[in-house]
Amino acid sequence: MAARVRKAVFPVAGLGTRFLPATKAMPKEMLTVVDRPLIQHVVDEAMEAGIEHFIFITGRNKGVIEDHFDRQFELEQVLAARGKTSELQSLNDDLPGPGSTSFTRQQEPLGLGHAVWCARELVGREPFALLLPDVLVQTQGKGCLAQMLDVYARHGGNIVAVDPVPDDQVKNYGVVSIDEGDGRVFPIDGMVEKPAPGTAPSNLTILGRYILQPEIFDLLSAQEQGAGGEIQITDAMLALLKVQPFYALKYEGRTFDCGSKVGFLTANVAYALARPDIAEAFKAEIKKLI
Ligand code: G1P
Repeated sequence: MAARVRKAVFPVAGLGTRFLPATKAMPKEMLTVVDRPLIQHVVDEAMEAGIEHFIFITGRNKGVIEDHFDRQFELEQVLAARGKTSELQSLNDDLPGPGSTSFTRQQEPLGLGHAVWCARELVGREPFALLLPDVLVQTQGKGCLAQMLDVYARHGGNIVAVDPVPDDQVKNYGVVSIDEGDGRVFPIDGMVEKPAPGTAPSNLTILGRYILQPEIFDLLSAQEQGAGGEIQITDAMLALLKVQPFYALKYEGRTFDCGSKVGFLTANVAYALARPDIAEAFKAEIKKLI
């Protein structure tokens, strides 16, 4: 039986230059989709999937993320005194338990692969999930990571959630090529990070959710620069593919690339429309605008 996935890694060291000036003094991961920071949405997905330990790869100016995942006693006292029990309850529900978060710093922005490598001591020699907080996956039933863990329980190995995108956007992503599969799960037989236009093996992109075996760290430690001069997780995965299976999951749900302004704004609309407390009023306002 495949070893259980208990830990999740969240790389949150990026500078967020695409959202300046909003991200000058505030981490991009704290931008809100409706009333929850991006990083909270992604931690929610990991909690729902049964993850027990949450590892954040931070950098300078990211301290507020650590504060966000701590208790706020003054606020709790005020809420309690005012009888706001449901707000108090949901603050507690959002919080990973005591001792179940770890924070380490990526000291230099050398790429996603390097950020993940910074988690090697905290993860240890066990499989782990990797979730990129730029990407939100909205689902009707189980979250994306929970769907991936179901596949992992059946197949073991390494799992990557994939999403088809229009051909002209493929160059912005990691891309996989797949073999014959069953239903939504396909063995991966190749990968490339940000392929030059016209060279991509498919239009199936790596969307930012991974289950990886710890041997990835051995490959990352020896890793050289790849696309964009950065140490790339996709290059290490391609090396690991020579000795371990990788599976692509065409998950059920919809992805929002919140690293782009349009993706982020669209996510806000989609998540607002899925919120029973504001959906009707919001829909009416949107109708007036368009
Ligand atoms: C990263 C990964 C890429 C993946 C993408 C998803 O790229 O390197 O393989 O497709 O996230 O958002 P980045 O967006 O950091 O350039």
